[in-house]
Amino acid sequence: MGSEARDIVAPKLETISRTVSNSFTKAGSFSYSISPTSTFHSPPSSLEAFRQSAKQLKPFDTKDIKVLLLENVNQTGRDILKEQGYQVEFYKSSLPEDELIEKIRDVHVVGIRSKTKLTSRVLREAKNLIVIGCFCIGTNQVDLKYAASQGIAVFNSPFSNSRSVAELVIGEIIALARQIGDRSNEMHAGTWNKVSSGSWEIRGKTLGIIGYGHIGSQLSVLAEAFGMSVIYYDVVNLMALGTAKQVSSLEDLLSGADFVTLHVPESPETKNMIGAKEIEQMKNGSYLINASRGSVVDIPALIEGMRSRKIAGAALDVYPNEPAGNGDYFNSELNTWGDDLRKLKNIILTPHIGGSTEEAQSAIGVEVASALVRYVNEGATLASVNMPEVNLRSLTMDEPNHVRVTFIHRNVPGVLRSVNKILGDHNVDKQMTDSRGEVAYLMADISDVNQNEIKAIWADLEGISACIRTRVLY
Ligand SMILES: NC(=O)c1ccc[n+]([C@@H]2O[C@H](COP(=O)([O-])OP(=O)(O)OC[C@H]3O[C@@H](n4cnc5c(N)ncnc54)[C@H](O)[C@@H]3O)[C@@H](O)[C@H]2O)c1
Repeated sequence: MGSEARDIVAPKLETISRTVSNSFTKAGSFSYSISPTSTFHSPPSSLEAFRQSAKQLKPFDTKDIKVLLLENVNQTGRDILKEQGYQVEFYKSSLPEDELIEKIRDVHVVGIRSKTKLTSRVLREAKNLIVIGCFCIGTNQVDLKYAASQGIAVFNSPFSNSRSVAELVIGEIIALARQIGDRSNEMHAGTWNKVSSGSWEIRGKTLGIIGYGHIGSQLSVLAEAFGMSVIYYDVVNLMALGTAKQVSSLEDLLSGADFVTLHVPESPETKNMIGAKEIEQMKNGSYLINASRGSVVDIPALIEGMRSRKIAGAALDVYPNEPAGNGDYFNSELNTWGDDLRKLKNIILTPHIGGSTEEAQSAIGVEVASALVRYVNEGATLASVNMPEVNLRSLTMDEPNHVRVTFIHRNVPGVLRSVNKILGDHNVDKQMTDSRGEVAYLMADISDVNQNEIKAIWADLEGISACIRTRVLY
């Protein structure tokens, strides 16, 4: 499928010059929160800081870019898209499939969260769609492969909530050490039970972090600020933050830590990573926290470990089976051991809320909307979940009549030869190409191009049989 001709219409010769967008400057007026009720945004990344002074390419008259935002996408994301001059249609909820198909036919950009299913049936109708923003972590609600085959890039925000998870875990470490959950439950039942036995300070204790990625490393810094020693285990050799120390085996970590916390991805290697054998290797009276994925801990083994008092307390935020919606669904039908788990003392059970904060939602809005703008205006696919990652440095105002060509095509032999033949009459200032499975993406900046040549280049590239989508940005 080729792109619509209107991608290259609007400009007259004299208008083939870049307009300067200050959208990132506006959206970049970030601030750190000083109170839980004030608005918080992520600070601008170095890329954003660079863009504050960069001249932005526009694919065509910005009024023509139509954006459909569903599922109450955060205000931060809406603002960034509106500041670009895009026409933004916003809905608080998802849409029934037939209505979605009607709406999606017209738009170039769609923003969703986890409820909207973008199946091949829906995407087949989305003839103008060039990019999907998942304003959330997961992307399994989108048929990624089909989207790529149609030249539709997909972006998400996998790490915007890392800090939220790290803070939850720090809170849980203290809550477990002081048995706060049990004392609070007793008070709710009218029982005053002032005890110090089995309650500890966390200062001077050792935290063992399994998986020292985005969340694990944030947690490392927080834990040291509380006076804890930190050891971590990771399959990759990673530079320690502060005075944390990497250990060479899982057993070393388990036997050395007072608190063990898991921050690994779900994979065949991490399935039941903590089972009866690993619990046996832990210190007597230690604590286990899992806010990663439900498959990582063998929960019946944990229940045994707690009954035998080997484990003094645990906090679980994730489970092998989780309900699809809110309600009284966390029962033994869902997970057979549910009743046994609920009866344990000093166990904190939370409904997968590790990343669920206002700040994380706000940061997701900024990250995904920025990725959408970068893709629409400049063709960059950095961090796309279904496209090869391609990026070129921005064009500048002192490069008049330069044009950026973006060409998504099937990954078959001979395509680059055909492309180079078409671009060969121009000076190709820079060019990058990469492939991912059956789809490849080429981006090239060419100089001294007039409007008629733009049209000819676009038409010639569209004529290549392996072409999926051509866009010309000026
Ligand atoms: N509870 C929540 O709401 C919530 C929110 C966000 C993320 N998460 C989950 O937290 C986990 C960690 O997220 P992240 O953003 O820090 O991920 P990340 O990719 O940044 O870090 C994961 C780390 O685990 C390491 N790792 C992978 N396999 C390992 C193994 N077998 N043994 C030891 N280390 C291993 C990796 O090398 C990496 O350093 C993920 O499972 C994610 O789904 C949960």
